[in-house]
Parts: sequence; structure tokens; C-alpha cells
Amino acid sequence: MILTDDLSAAVGEAFAAAGLDARLGRVTAAHRPDLAQFQCNGALAAAKAAKQNPRALAEKICAALKDNPNFADIAVAGPGFINITLTDGFISSRAAALAGDERLGAWSKPETETIVLDYGGPNVAKPLHVGHLRAAIIGESLKRVLRFAGDKVIGDVHFGDWGLPMGQLITELKREQPQLAYFDEAFKGSYPDTSPVTLDDLERLYPQASAACKADPQRAEEARIATAELQKGRAGYLALWRHFVAVSRAAIEQEYADLGVTFDLWKGEADADKLTEVMAADLRAKGLLEESDGAHVVRVAKEGDKKDIPPLMLFKRDGGVTYGTTDLATILDRVRSLAPDRMLYVVDQRQALHFEQVFRAAALADIFPADRLEHIGFGTMNGKDGKPFKTRAGGVLKLRDLIDTVTERARARLADSGLAKGYGEAETADIARKVGIAALKFADLSNPRTSDYIFDLDRFMAFEGKTGPYLLYASVRVRSVLAKAEAAGAGAPGPVSIAAPEERDLALSLLAFGEALRDAYEKRLPHILCDHAFTLAQAFSKFYAACRIADEADAAARASRLSLTAATGRQLDLTLNLLGIEAPQRM
Ligand code: ARG
Repeated sequence: MILTDDLSAAVGEAFAAAGLDARLGRVTAAHRPDLAQFQCNGALAAAKAAKQNPRALAEKICAALKDNPNFADIAVAGPGFINITLTDGFISSRAAALAGDERLGAWSKPETETIVLDYGGPNVAKPLHVGHLRAAIIGESLKRVLRFAGDKVIGDVHFGDWGLPMGQLITELKREQPQLAYFDEAFKGSYPDTSPVTLDDLERLYPQASAACKADPQRAEEARIATAELQKGRAGYLALWRHFVAVSRAAIEQEYADLGVTFDLWKGEADADKLTEVMAADLRAKGLLEESDGAHVVRVAKEGDKKDIPPLMLFKRDGGVTYGTTDLATILDRVRSLAPDRMLYVVDQRQALHFEQVFRAAALADIFPADRLEHIGFGTMNGKDGKPFKTRAGGVLKLRDLIDTVTERARARLADSGLAKGYGEAETADIARKVGIAALKFADLSNPRTSDYIFDLDRFMAFEGKTGPYLLYASVRVRSVLAKAEAAGAGAPGPVSIAAPEERDLALSLLAFGEALRDAYEKRLPHILCDHAFTLAQAFSKFYAACRIADEADAAARASRLSLTAATGRQLDLTLNLLGIEAPQRM
């Protein structure tokens, strides 16, 4: 179904017939759309390898292809590029097939894999902040892209519930309420079902505890001991910890839901704890677990490493486990319970070394092959000062506040632009929320994942330019064009027949979707789909300005344009959906 694949096959045959590698016939969209629609640069590489003149070689390929009925023109440009222009008839028939395809020309993966997608990574008692935002937004989009391409994807939040912060919370609460049964080692009864802390308590206790531990070594030591005791299974601490986890999870799950982000599994670091001992025994038996300064580590450095890869610490001197231990044990847990083909981690790029260590340890211990473990890193969201984004007060911005802020701003923007006028309060609020979230998500996703970007709400919120609101507006406009056409009795969509340049460009934009999806899938780069959505919306906008649709007098042209419009609406909404962006019905 991918147009450039079919063109590549045809041009590849001509290369093969000339005794050259068929793969050199790879055709891509033209870099200069003003000169041609498609191009092939293979003659340059072929000429170099065969020590021939590139232009002469390109001429030979063109001569072999000039009778291809699908090509309106094939010609050599510059030092040996081959430029291709398709006939309108061929473009029309491909566009018609796309319009009739349920998947709108999307690519499907030849074989299905079972993939665990680890994204989100929030932590108990810490409010979600913008640092967790990117993981959620990128992860949600990748989940949808992978699933749509055909994989079986299991999204796991991997809740941060097993480290030092847990001991810090326990000791902090003990100072405030030492009388609670959880702290009494002699207590033999059953612990209360209701939590002794609320979400507000947790959000107060954690910063308090972490500041105290920083300032006072004695406090830090207490927290360290409490963490180790919790991890060894002290009953009162476990009971208390369960409350912390439940209270946090309820709040965080709601914030994710408001953002349109959901998970199949709410497992945490602690869930893998039961496997730590067997895993350690196995590592020991394989001679991989070494003592170092009282701690136990796995050496993961390899000969030929370009940088220093420190050992992965499995047990600290007090026997406590680390972030690395829980991640390694989690891999084992996933292998046993889900038997996946691959595991993907959508986590901040700054954790790259951690994942390198864990992946190497997993391979060394024969738990899972390293080439099926992928760290999908991402850059930082910065403030205008170029440093990780902070609020005006200097704190991290909480996700809840961010969602409220974008919704408010969207409401103001809608009012300024005269949109959503006269709609009821509930609908206006819903549109504002969708526009706000779209602004935020699209701004995040449209940057190549590994780059940093600057948080600039005014820019994200604009209805013009490459923004979420612009795309929602485009989607709504397509819908309204179709609704008006129907109301006017414009008839049904019919066979696509392209004549105007704006029709041609729109059809070619639609036909680029299959490859964009495959690219986004293979590179794990959602911004490729953002680019596609934007190009498509722009092509539609030009088409709409240049061509009559419902009021076109020629019935065949009208039916063709209705087909193109309907396909654009469906493909745009599908692409937005793959980005995790929801469009309103109208605005
Ligand atoms: N909780 C971690 C953090 O806030 C992120 C977890 C990412 N996933 C993982 N398997 N390590 O930094």
C-alpha cells in the first residue's frame, strides 16, 4: 500500500536490468516539490561504485522507465538525480484506493510482536511534574502507534514505590504520629483498612522528609534503616506502605486520565521484589555477582567500551536494593509473566547509563537479550532560560496545575478567535480542555523526541502555525465542510479524479501516510506523524481555498472532491488519535 515502495520496486527493476543493485532504486518524496513529486538518488551511488558517469547512468535508467504508464515524466536533474512525476490518473486511482481503505493507507507490520511498554514512571507521594509529562505523552503515542501497526502492546506504568523515599515517608510520619500501630513492633493485631494519611499529607510529608534527610545525617540514617526494614518485610511498615501506594495511585491515575493517558498494568518496582532473591542466587551461581566494599555488584563493562560503564549495584552494604535491582528483577518478572518479544522504556535521556547497565546485566545473566531492550530516551522540557522548566516561584510545576493552566488559556484563546461562540457551558469547557491538552501534547510530540524544547504556552496555543490547536481546527473544519455538503444535498463521494494542482497535492499528502507511519514506528519517533498531520492540514487548507466542493457544478468533480475531503478528515483524525490527541466535534 505504500506508494514510495511501489515506485521503488519499479525503479529498482530498472537498476537490476542494468546490472546494478535493485535497492539503489529507492524512491522518496522529492526534496524540491516545485521540480518533481518524487526522486531517486541511486544513480549517484551506483556510478561511484561502478566508476561510471552518474548522469549517463541516470539517463539509462530513465530511458528504461519512460514507457511506464504511471509516470508522466521521468528525467535526470543535476549531477544524476532522477526526478519522477506521476500521471494524474495513477494518483487518482491510488487516492481512490486509500479513500476506500479502512486503514486509510496505513502500514501494517508483517509480524506481530508482544511488547511491554514501560512509560510514565511516577513515584509514590511525589506529585507528577512536567518531567513525567513527556514520558506519559510520548509513551501513550507510541503505544497507539505500535498497536495500530499490529503489535500486542502491554503498557506498564512502573510505579516508583520501592526506594529510599518510602523509608523517608515512614520515618517522617513516625515523628508526627508515633502512636500509630504501624510503628509498634510488638503489635500483633490487624492494621486498619483506612489510610492514616491523605494525599495532601503525603505531598506535605515527602518534601519535609527529604529536606530533613538532606540537612541531618541522623535523619537520613533513620530513613535508610526504615527503607531496608521495609524491604526485608517488616509487617507494620508494609501495611503503612500499602496505604501510601494506594493513596498516591488514585490521584496519579486520575491526572493521567485527564491527560488521555492509560495503562494496562499498574505494577511497581516492589512487584519484582519477590524475584530479587532467586535472581541474585542465579547471578551468584553464574559467577556474576561480586562483592565490592561490602556491596554486591554485577560488572557490566566490556572491552572496547568508549566510556566508563560502572558496575550495576544489586545490594547496598545494608542489604537494601537499588533502582537497578528493581529494574533487573522487573525484566525477569515480565519474562515470566508476559513472555514478551521486546521491552521498551520511555524514560528521560538522562537515565541512559542506568538502562545501559541494566540491559547489559540482563544479557549477561541470560534473562533477556539486550538487543530486545530499548531505551526510548527523550530530552528535557526547558524554561525560556534554557534550564529544566520551573514555575515562577521556582518550584516544579505540578501536572494538575499545568492541565488547569492550559485549559484556561485555551478558553481565552477561543474567545479571542471568536470560536465556540454561543455553545453551552459544558461544551465550551470540553472544547477548551481538548484544545489545551492538544496544544500541550502536540508541542511536546512535534519535537524530535531526543531534543530538548522550550516550554512556551503562547506559542503552543496559537491557532496558526504548526500547533495542536491549528490541527484541531483543521479537523473540525473538514467535518463542517462535509456536514454542510450533506445538508446542501451535494450527493455522495465518488471516484477520485484529479485535475487541479491543489487536488494533486492533497492526494499526494494523503498517500504519504503509510510511509510516515512506518517511519514513526521503526524509529519510535512520533514527531514524524506530527509532520504528516501538519502537511495534510495545510494541503487541505489550500485545496479548500482553491476548489469548490459542495457547490461545484460538475457532478463528477464534486463527488471526487467529497471523497478527498472525507479521506482527509478520517486520516487527520486517525493521525491525531495516534498522537493521543482528541478533537472536538465542532468549535
Ligand atoms: N520512577 C522513575 C523516575 O521518576 C522512572 C521509572 C522509569 N522506568 C523504569 N523501568 N526505570 O525517574
